[in-house]
Amino acid sequence: MDDIYGGHRPEMELVLDKLVQRVDDLRQSMALQSAFDPVDHILHRVKSEESMREKCRRKGLPETTEAALTKVYDALGLRIVCPFLSDVYALRDHIAASPDFVVVEERDYILHAKPNGYRSYHMILRSQEGYYAEVQLRTISMDTWAALEHHLHYKKHREGNQRLIVQELKRCADELASTDVSMQTLRDMILAEGD
Ligand code: GTP
Ligand code: MG
Repeated sequence: MDDIYGGHRPEMELVLDKLVQRVDDLRQSMALQSAFDPVDHILHRVKSEESMREKCRRKGLPETTEAALTKVYDALGLRIVCPFLSDVYALRDHIAASPDFVVVEERDYILHAKPNGYRSYHMILRSQEGYYAEVQLRTISMDTWAALEHHLHYKKHREGNQRLIVQELKRCADELASTDVSMQTLRDMILAEGD
């Protein structure tokens, strides 16, 4: 089977590296300014051949390079996991102001959590070269929930348990969200002490 990204793969890798580098530069300048590192860790990936083909099929798109690069926006993906809520929004602002990438779409699933409890801030960026990248910004708590939910998603549940599982997952997400707000308050208190 042909590579769905055609001859674009090397250039895609370069664009993704540039985005990671950009975020790393922002991270360093922010850490210098506030004495708090705004990033816990960053993951990045070029979407695999298999999952890009699966996504094209799911979206009713042809399995072509054109669709993979211009109709699907997460061929390039970056996940930025931050300690605190304020880091998520501060990074969002810096990324949006970055000259090499244009923001084409944003979804605030923190302010508007998904019904299942999923929270994250999503941005779709377009590089100067015309490649799209999805950036997911989230706190450590949100990342923990998403990872666990992902694990459970692939297990089969009994009919009667399904409702309870969905309900409990939502409750856990909301408890973690409330903890994020408490941790933010602690952080702000510690920062204020320094003045
Ligand atoms: P896709 O067709 O999957 O791209 O959906 P979409 O275009 O509506 O994008 P959306 O913003 O919903 O989600 C994109 C990505 O966010 C997914 O590929 C996941 O990485 C993550 N995500 C979204 N919803 C959930 C969720 O309920 N649980 C977990 N674990 N991750 C999620
Ligand atoms: Mg998407």
